[in-house]
Amino acid sequence: ARPLTLLGIETSCDETAAAVVRLSPDGEVQILSEKVHTQLEEHAPYLGVVPEIAARAHAELADQTVAAAMADSGLAYSDLDAVAATSGPGLIGGVLVGMMTGKAIAQAAGKPFLAVNHLEGHALSPRLTHDCPFPYLLLLVSGGHCQFLEVRGLGDYRRLGSTIDDAAGEAFDKTAKLLGLGFPGGPAVERIGAAGDPKAIHFPRPLLNRPGLDMSFAGLKTAVARAAEAEDLTETRMANICASFQAAIVDVLSEKAHRAIENFDPGDGAGKRFVVAGGVASNEAIRSGLEKVAENSGAVLIAPPMRHCTDNAAMIALAGAERLAGGLENEAGDLGAGARPR
Ligand code: KG4
Ligand code: ZN
Repeated sequence: ARPLTLLGIETSCDETAAAVVRLSPDGEVQILSEKVHTQLEEHAPYLGVVPEIAARAHAELADQTVAAAMADSGLAYSDLDAVAATSGPGLIGGVLVGMMTGKAIAQAAGKPFLAVNHLEGHALSPRLTHDCPFPYLLLLVSGGHCQFLEVRGLGDYRRLGSTIDDAAGEAFDKTAKLLGLGFPGGPAVERIGAAGDPKAIHFPRPLLNRPGLDMSFAGLKTAVARAAEAEDLTETRMANICASFQAAIVDVLSEKAHRAIENFDPGDGAGKRFVVAGGVASNEAIRSGLEKVAENSGAVLIAPPMRHCTDNAAMIALAGAERLAGGLENEAGDLGAGARPR
């Protein structure tokens, strides 16, 4: 066994990202380089990610982002063991750009190509920086995803529950849009809400008292719209809406996380690891709510650095490397692998 060095490419949403990662046989991970070009500015005027704009931006940026990551790593394409790219789920235009870029480089360098599932990348992302052996629990909360996963081993994931409609980040973005706070909404809602009273308005906690780990956030939008209409939207009222909305999300995520941890049996006597990832995890109230829950249920909370919580290419390179090391590359795909939006 020898170390495996992979170039990873991520283009499934609104980040154009490339990274070079080395995985040692003993599981040690070295990030040799990582580059991200976020398209937030391109999408901000439309208050959301516009697929056509994303696809065009990925097409414009993919080559230079990859070149920059390679230059930073100090390696040549011939030094790589393989190339990995996100094959979905995601916006099809961007996924196609990343796949074509990765396949072309792999083909030209005579290296294997691995098609990586974006969610597998997120699932393995804590292993980039933390000692995080299988199995562990993962809560992935972003603009596109909101789900609890049991990560049992490489290629062995069990979805324990997920949102049945909007992701939590999407709810933040819609609330911000209703209140005229711009995009992305999460940071704005958190900032404005800091001055508000989280108990001022009672927003629904959908599915809170239903058994299981499914969540629902779409109804909150209607409730926020009603609250915003009810009176003059004074500064205080805005702050109260933001704070109260955020409190509802904190309650739902905390209660479901508590349940997930209680029901999680790692079976190795090594304790329960609970990983939280995704853009929403940067929210202070949500983070401290989850910290409390973990502490109360005897779990260790692992929060990867923000750059690995959001979409990034290092997690794609690592997923590819782990698959290559584990002999799972054929299952992952090859030059014939197609892009899968879902
Ligand atoms: O993981 P991410 O960067 O991208 C994907 O959605 O894949 O997550 C972005 C989402 C957006 O919906 C954004 O509003 C939300 O994460 N977000 C936050 C905060 N920062 C980002 N939500 C709540 N509070 C925040 N501080
Ligand atoms: Zn993602």
